[in-house]
Amino acid sequence: FADPSFSAALIGWQKEHGRHTLPWQNTRDAYLIWLSEIMLQQTQVSAVLGYYARFLERFPTLRELAAAPVEDVMAQWSGLGYYTRARNLHRCAQQVVAQYDGVFPSDPALLAELPGIGRSTAAAISAFSSGTRAAIMDGNVKRVFARVFGIDTFPGEKKTEQAMWRRAEALLPASGIESYTQGLMDMGATLCTRSSPDCARCPMQQRCVAHLTQRTKELPVRKPK
Ligand code: ADE
Repeated sequence: FADPSFSAALIGWQKEHGRHTLPWQNTRDAYLIWLSEIMLQQTQVSAVLGYYARFLERFPTLRELAAAPVEDVMAQWSGLGYYTRARNLHRCAQQVVAQYDGVFPSDPALLAELPGIGRSTAAAISAFSSGTRAAIMDGNVKRVFARVFGIDTFPGEKKTEQAMWRRAEALLPASGIESYTQGLMDMGATLCTRSSPDCARCPMQQRCVAHLTQRTKELPVRKPK
């Protein structure tokens, strides 16, 4: 499934049309990147922006977060939802201080052992903070893959998800992992949306199975009953 033209098209689009000024971009500080990726799990960028800024005012460093009472962390998180994220965030901060002297590891396999950091979040953090080549796979990426590659089995199915991870690994660019990873996220969030994909502006238009066969409404397939 390797195909360098896929990453080349995506990186080119990201540089021209992707988002470049989000508050967690243009930094390699793993604390700033980790916090953004946890807040952005299950929550849209627009809802995260204010919380992100206020959280960093209250907890400017990983060590200050780790040393704070969990009640203070929960108070800062209040309104964002999915509160397990906040408890894990606090535990993760304490673990990075205790286990890694306050420095996040760059290896995604080690990141994925920390509380609240799954395989995809670990890949995003290591790509953005150290340029490590690792594949992400969240709901948006599953939708993009289902459409571009015409995957017509349910993405929530274990086998389908495994196949998508394998494709994602094979498609990683030799260089430019930051732009590539951000491009996948931006495409999924701004172009290849669930109900009204903007195929006219999409860099994958000529190669997208769903677009070419007029099945963007059918892909990805819904959960079978
Ligand atoms: N969603 C998850 N990670 C993101 C990021 N780095 N930028 C924008 N949206 C995201």
